[in-house]
Amino acid sequence: MALQMRIHVPPHPFINQLLAVCRDKNTPTPIFRSAVADLGRWLAYEALRDFLPTLEVGVYTPLEMPAAATVIDSRVPLAVVPVLRAGLALLDGILPLVPSASVHHLGYARNEKTLLADCYLDRLPKVFEPETRVLILEPMLATGGTSVAVMEKILERGALVENIRIISVICAPPALQALSQRYSDLVIYSAMIDEHLNEQGYIVPGLGDAGDRAFGT
Ligand code: URA
Repeated sequence: MALQMRIHVPPHPFINQLLAVCRDKNTPTPIFRSAVADLGRWLAYEALRDFLPTLEVGVYTPLEMPAAATVIDSRVPLAVVPVLRAGLALLDGILPLVPSASVHHLGYARNEKTLLADCYLDRLPKVFEPETRVLILEPMLATGGTSVAVMEKILERGALVENIRIISVICAPPALQALSQRYSDLVIYSAMIDEHLNEQGYIVPGLGDAGDRAFGT
């Protein structure tokens, strides 16, 4: 049976409330940034639920009683890939959950004429161990240009599609179509799927330029 890309939009009042704050054009920069970080935390909580390998171990409680325990298997590397700039705001909320993850920054700037993504910074490792879990942080999945370029780069370095998840704030049908055509095993967690893009490639209704709004530019 052919696999299908999965997109999860966790139905939770916290996520909806934070999304409303991000959408509101009157939200000031510091509040916007902290709402994106909080969205990152809740979405990562959901995305990592069945993604991080665990180990069954035994621990002794202060009562000297052995207790069965489940812990995160730290032998399996976790790599977080924030896509600059806006991915940094998601990172702020996620890193406290997984403090020993390695962070590999990727910088993409959208060429406003071609709407294509130009890579200006690549801090990926030369090679990912195939079992490495990779979490891509890309708040706005609009045309899919950046996210497909990011996926290609990560796969070139040896990561496996089934070990990659994307966390986004809002995604739009063109990006979802571009990703699902190429990566049937991919899993995405997002706060919302919006309707369409405008002629400039912005998500509608969206939240505007996530990088500008997160960093006050
Ligand atoms: N990038 C953004 O920051 N916003 C959009 O609406 C689309 C791409």
